[in-house]
This record gives sequence, structure tokens and C-alpha cells, in this order.
Amino acid sequence: MLTDNAQLALHGALWELDQDIAVFAKDEPLLVATVLAYAEQLMEKVKLRAASAPRLEAFTGANYRVGADDFPISGFEPARKARGSALVMTFRKPSEVVGNHIAKYQAMRLAKMLMAYDFMRRLNPFAELGGFIFTFMGDGKPGTGKTTLIQMMAGLLNDYCKVANYPFRYANLSIDNVDSYQGKSGQNAKAFINNVMDPAVIGFGTVDDIDQVAGKRGDRQSSAGQQEITAVLMEAFAGANTVVRGNCTFGMFSNYPENVDDALRQRAGARFLVDGPQSREDYIDILALLLGKNHSIPLGEHELYAAQEIKRAVAASFEGHSVPHEDGLKAVWAEVEARVGPLDTLAKLGTYLKAIQEADERFTGRAIKNITDAVKVRAMDFELPDEWMEVPELFLFKGYDEKKAMISDLRRPITVEMVVQEINRYADSEFRYADKSDEVAIENMVRDFGRQEEAKRRYLEGKG
Ligand SMILES: Nc1ncnc2c1ncn2[C@@H]1O[C@H](COP(=O)(O)OP(=O)(O)OP(=O)(O)O)[C@@H](O)[C@H]1O
Ligand SMILES: [Mg+2]
Repeated sequence: MLTDNAQLALHGALWELDQDIAVFAKDEPLLVATVLAYAEQLMEKVKLRAASAPRLEAFTGANYRVGADDFPISGFEPARKARGSALVMTFRKPSEVVGNHIAKYQAMRLAKMLMAYDFMRRLNPFAELGGFIFTFMGDGKPGTGKTTLIQMMAGLLNDYCKVANYPFRYANLSIDNVDSYQGKSGQNAKAFINNVMDPAVIGFGTVDDIDQVAGKRGDRQSSAGQQEITAVLMEAFAGANTVVRGNCTFGMFSNYPENVDDALRQRAGARFLVDGPQSREDYIDILALLLGKNHSIPLGEHELYAAQEIKRAVAASFEGHSVPHEDGLKAVWAEVEARVGPLDTLAKLGTYLKAIQEADERFTGRAIKNITDAVKVRAMDFELPDEWMEVPELFLFKGYDEKKAMISDLRRPITVEMVVQEINRYADSEFRYADKSDEVAIENMVRDFGRQEEAKRRYLEGKG
């Protein structure tokens, strides 16, 4: 790249392109591919050069857009007209998800939050103010509605984006992306990340059944491909180069979160327990829902879907975390409370955190970061009005600063209850994974011993 002056830079670039075309462009389709590949390479190189060049603020500090071509220029970020992907998947409405109150509520809010992204500024006010969920993890037993939840969130985003005419991209990283060729799995994962993070689109990336796709480091059972994927995801979710613009979010889902690498799991900023239908009411609701309409069986004494009313259910779920649920954490809580009384100051809350860390060494700085992020999410815990999504002029199409001000107005102050609940919610989930990890291994061994005993008994019986 020649950078002596603009003229020379242009000539240099065109000369290179000409060389490439001569070598690679044997026919029309190859010509297009060659030009595109060259343009991408050039943008990459310019960006690299810019990274070490001084006095660029005047250029990088402002955002431009060529209106006629809808072509944004913000610093040295590569830009091209982005297209969303046409989605072929089943969408679910929120009313078709039974139970999973917190997960469902957060997913619905997150979908709206993503829409606040400003394409001009390439930033989301939620990402700036705090309270944006960049990565989250949903865990729960098989068949509790994890995939259903993905279908719901993708459906919401697809609808909102259609109204606002924003490009929307959904991608899932699946077991198909684990390849036995060295380096290919990592490349697949990288492509998945880049596709979703493209600042010119609203993106939603999922890794359904992540325990199958990513491996645990040091685990003999995980393949090289899985390890590559783990490394790429770790870097993308919280590496040195991660920029959270708030245009996309990543959800990881699993039945076996204890099989996911600790460091990767902790990169999930938010945790949702996806435990599916729980109460008697839930079971009646899901039966009625899935049975469909082609019957005349009376409903009986029951108010259909009342238990799914989201505000009520969520408030109850959050309050449920005012005390811990897992046995390990309960013990810590009791000990700390006996020692310092109710947790109503930062000092006492900090004492609780330290006590948790003594019980579970994985409770590091990142855990505290995740908890405070979750608390900030709660402070942002207001519904963006539905009308804002339906009539884009009301909010979506306003300028960045105006959007930010509108959001700030809705913010609630952080309370000590929120902090306690979020500590418990996070720590419970870590204890849940830890307890399970050991428990699963022990249970398996017990079952094996049992089988051996039984086999021996039958064998001896047969002989005798
Ligand atoms: N909470 C729920 N609300 C509504 N339907 C549900 C719920 N949970 C499960 N179902 C029904 O059961 C089927 C299986 O659910 P889903 O595929 O979402 O489970 P999953 O948690 O992804 O399971 P797995 O861990 O095995 O992938 C769905 O097609 C849906 O009809
Ligand atoms: Mg599933």
C-alpha cells in the first residue's frame, strides 16, 4: 500500500487489482470473486496500517454516510452494503413458551434492546449506558424449551427488523461445523462470529447444544476441532479485541453446562435457567397449547395462560432469588448472615462475595463483573413500549443522542435487593454446575459398579 498521497494510493491499489484480475479472473464469476476478495484484503490492510498511524482523530472521530448509496464511513471499519439472511426456521410466539419466565422475559427484552442499535453511530445506547447482554447462556434439562426459546427470540427480531427495514442475520453454530481437518473448525467458528458481529446488521448468533460443539480444555474426550472452536469463541466473547457495539448478541444453550469449559461458560454475561413447565398450571397450559384446537375436551377449572402472564411471573421469579437455592450456597449464606447480619451495605455484600469465593474458587473477578452487569440490566428493567417497535419513527429512527436520552429517562435506581438477588442467581448457577459435574461422575461410577455386581450375580447363578 502506497500512502504518499491520495493519487498514488489509488494508482497503487488499481495496479494491484489489475495484476490479480490478470492472474485469477478466468471467467465472469471468478472476476466478481476476485474483485471482492481484493477489496476485502485492501480494507483489512488499510485498517492494519491505520492502527499504527498517528493523528487520525479528525477522520475517525466523525461518522459519514453517502446517502445515495447508503454507504457508511466510520473510521477504518470495512463497510459494505449489508444484507440480512432469509430465514427458514420455525418461529414461536412468546405465548407459545410455557414457564421459563426469566429466560423468556429477558429474551424478549433483549430483542427490543438490540433494535435500539444506531446504524449511523454504530453503537447501541444500551451498550454505552450498561445493561446490554452481549452473551448469555441458557441451561436446562432436555426438552424444557431451549430450542423453543431460540425460535421465539429469532422470530421477534425478524419481525421487528422487518418493520424497521433493518438487515437481520441469524446464525447457529452447530455440530456440523466441527471438522476433522486441522484449523477448519476454528475457521468455521470465526466465520460464524464475523457474520453475526457485522456492524451493518442486527445479529443473533446461537450455539445450541454447546457442550457438543465446544470442548473443555484438558478433557481427553473433546476433539481438536472442538478445542479450536472453544478458543475462537473465548476470544470473540471477551478477548482483547472484542468491541461490544450492541448490534448483536450470542446465546449458548446446553443440557450439560458443566461440560463446557469454565472460562467459556463464564464469558456468558447472563444466565437463564430453562427449566420448562413447573407448576400444575404450567402443565395444564402446555397440554392445552400443544394439543391444539381440534378437540372439544372441556378445559375444566383453570384460567388458561394466567400463570404465563409475564410481569407477575418474573417478579415472583426474581424475588425467589432473595435467598439462595443450591445447598452449597445456602451454607455460605447462613454463615455470613450469622456473622454480619442482613446484607445492606457494600461492605457486607463484599463479605458475602469473598465467602462465596472461599467455597468456590471459580468465583473470580469475572463473576463479579457478570453480576454487576446483571444488576445494571435490572436497572434497565423496563419494557421498551411495543409501539416503539411497531412505529419506527417513535424511537428507532431517532438520532443516537435522542434515543439515549429516552432510554436514560426510563432507568431505575439500583437497590440492595437487586444486588443480593443477582449475586444469588449467578452463584446458584455456578454451584449448580459444580455440584452437578462431580455428581454426574459419581453417579456414573455407581451405576457401573451396580452393573458389575448384577452381572457377576447372574454369571454365578448361571454356573451354579
Ligand atoms: N417451555 C415450553 N413451552 C412450550 N413448549 C415446550 C416447552 N418445552 C418444551 N416444549 C415442547 O417440546 C418440544 C421440545 O422442546 P425444545 O426442542 O425446545 O427442547 P430443548 O430444551 O431444546 O431440548 P434439548 O435439550 O433436547 O435440545 C418443543 O417442540 C415444544 O413443542
Ligand atoms: Mg434443543
